Amino acid sequence: MSSILTGITTSGTPHLGNYVGAIKPSLGKIKESQKSFLFLADYHSLIKQQDPELTHKSSLEIASAWLACGLDPKKTFFYRQSRVPQIMELNWILSNTTSKGLLNRAHAYKAAQDLNAEKKIKDLDKGITAGLFNYPVLMAADILIFDADFIPVGSDQKQHIEMTRDIALRFNHIYGEIFTIPQAHISKSIPLLLGTDGRKMSKSYKNYIELFSDEKTLKKSINKIVTDSLLPGEPKETNNSILYSYFKAFASKDLLKEVEIMFSEGKGWGELKNELFILINTELESFRNKYFFYLENQKTVESILIDGEKQVLTIAEKKLVEIRKKIGIRSLDEK
Ligand code: TRP
Repeated sequence: MSSILTGITTSGTPHLGNYVGAIKPSLGKIKESQKSFLFLADYHSLIKQQDPELTHKSSLEIASAWLACGLDPKKTFFYRQSRVPQIMELNWILSNTTSKGLLNRAHAYKAAQDLNAEKKIKDLDKGITAGLFNYPVLMAADILIFDADFIPVGSDQKQHIEMTRDIALRFNHIYGEIFTIPQAHISKSIPLLLGTDGRKMSKSYKNYIELFSDEKTLKKSINKIVTDSLLPGEPKETNNSILYSYFKAFASKDLLKEVEIMFSEGKGWGELKNELFILINTELESFRNKYFFYLENQKTVESILIDGEKQVLTIAEKKLVEIRKKIGIRSLDEK
């Protein structure tokens, strides 16, 4: 019954935050569902950045990371948004039933306007592209073309899924029932992994830990996690500790209890960081070689995606034909 779908914008190198917040929980959800769609939102990435090399490199890195972490392309439709032109067609169709006012309220658009207001720029739309403004429509097209009903996303995407519902309901109302109304799935148990300095983990802050690097680099990155200046032997608080939040994201319940004891008994930060390194490295070790294999064997990744695209193109075209009929676009001799 349930079909699950999610997309990943190809605008960066996968980091630990992506693994904890998206890759791991989504792969878990996919295992429980009968039908699943996972795609590279490469056209969405143009909204965030316009570096062609980055878009290209990021697509390979993100595809490789998901495959390395256990995505099974035999069980999940795995494809690029850009290779399913029906999504773009639906994007246009939906633009004509979506009210501009709805898009005016989108967080991403409003945040861009707020930034202009803060800078005392008179034209609040200065530097804002039509792509950013239309972002929620493209996202609705991604979802509605496949009748997906279950969308695992981060809490920042909640509004977009609500908009997708609005867009689908309005279309159904105008043209008759055709779209499944999707539901966002935002897992509360997923810990938010902060950057090494305690701010949001982000490329622009340079506070992220790459998901796949060699052991030395991983160790170095973990050593950068900011702590207070308490010495070995002095008891440490887990509350508000960035290091502890990393343990929470990776450790089992039992291990976490042991870690809490280490904190309260005053283990040194250096030793604690070493424990964390061992924990994370053990989890990633088995995926790392696969990741680098895929990165070097681009043809393998390409052919996996082409295979997935062949399958979804058939589904998307069938749906689009139905949609076109609803809006009155069909062969002239067809009743
Ligand atoms: N915008 C989403 C993000 O930045 C990625 C995305 C694009 C997506 N299309 C989607 C997620 C459709 C879920 C469903 O995370």
